[in-house]
Amino acid sequence: MPPVPDRFGRPLRNLRLSVTDRCNLRCQYCMPEEEYVWLPKSNVLTFEETMRLVDIFVTLGVDKVRLTGGEPLLRAELPVLVRMLAQRPALRDLAMTSNGVLLREHARALREAGLHRLTVSLDTLDAETFKMLSRRPDHHRVLDGIQAAREAGFEELKIDTVVIAGVNDGELAALLGYARSVGAELRFIEYMDVGGATHWRLDRVVSRARMLELLAASHGPITELPRTDSAPAERFRLGDGTTFGIISSVTQPFCATCDRARLTADGMWYTCLYATTGTDLRALLRGGASDAVIRQTILDVWTGRTDRGAEERAAMPLRMPMAPVSTLRQDPHLEMHTRGG
Ligand code: GTP
Ligand code: 5AD
Ligand code: SF4
Repeated sequence: MPPVPDRFGRPLRNLRLSVTDRCNLRCQYCMPEEEYVWLPKSNVLTFEETMRLVDIFVTLGVDKVRLTGGEPLLRAELPVLVRMLAQRPALRDLAMTSNGVLLREHARALREAGLHRLTVSLDTLDAETFKMLSRRPDHHRVLDGIQAAREAGFEELKIDTVVIAGVNDGELAALLGYARSVGAELRFIEYMDVGGATHWRLDRVVSRARMLELLAASHGPITELPRTDSAPAERFRLGDGTTFGIISSVTQPFCATCDRARLTADGMWYTCLYATTGTDLRALLRGGASDAVIRQTILDVWTGRTDRGAEERAAMPLRMPMAPVSTLRQDPHLEMHTRGG
């Protein structure tokens, strides 16, 4: 089935499945508050419900699935879901984004279940900075988790680093060295003003341009590599051959090629990271709708899609966090940790 184009001709290819809204870290750029409103457990889709939706999405052209959270490894029996997904030959790419804390325990089972690729978030090499940033003392577990992922046979490893001025912008070179030593490709991410990032300020964003300036100062000339797919990262190569990516959603959004949609753990479907409203697929599932009806609903929403959230935010004269805490409490679906990053 050829992918369905939205109003700007963008196909629906990439489905991000958030399997839980819970997280075991409290990163300042994502979950800086003391308290959160969690999704009721009874609303969380069963694996069977999730697979029913995935199978419908596949008929509309989805061929990439990424498991996200919160922290996806907090979802009980996750390898069971991975195995179900891995049995769908139409899914040519099956990946997961994790904070790494629980990877030592789960990496092997995930690999055996058929997960293709792993991305681990790692923002610092310094245990104290990690503790300050994530409000948890688990730095060593993340590093060990990355090691465990290697040992389990994940060759296509990526490391995601959100760069924040004054926090970890002095560590770019060291992080690249670390990533190279573990055989992973690092992507530096601009600090985004998404829901949940209630402490976001423009002067805390380290722009793509500034990152390149810092790296050129330490490593010499940098070569830009051609893009190979719709991935959000631009790729670069240093003189010593090290490659890395930059995801510049703040200063250079990639909405024009965005082929992604996200399903929350409770079955709300969003066609943009910044969307304020979504489609309640759980209501359809549990209300007895047929596959054909659910498929038509998804088709109608996608063909009408005009989202370009990051571009719209980039055009705002005065940028502020996307939503105040009171609004996030009223609708936790606006949170990045619910929507799956
Ligand atoms: P691959 O390129 O397939 O490896 O995955 P990915 O880069 O899409 O996945 P990952 O979860 O590693 O995403 C990296 C980061 O890019 C996220 O954590 C976000 O900060 C950002 N990002 C992901 N999806 C979107 C999106 O739809 N829009 C924008 N503006 N940023 C996104
Ligand atoms: N800006 C950029 N990326 C973010 N993430 C979460 N919050 C933000 C933000 N404010 C992404 C990071 C992190 C993943 C779990 O979600 O990539 O590694
Ligand atoms: Fe896609 Fe919205 Fe992100 Fe733009 S901001 S890349 S449209 S999800």
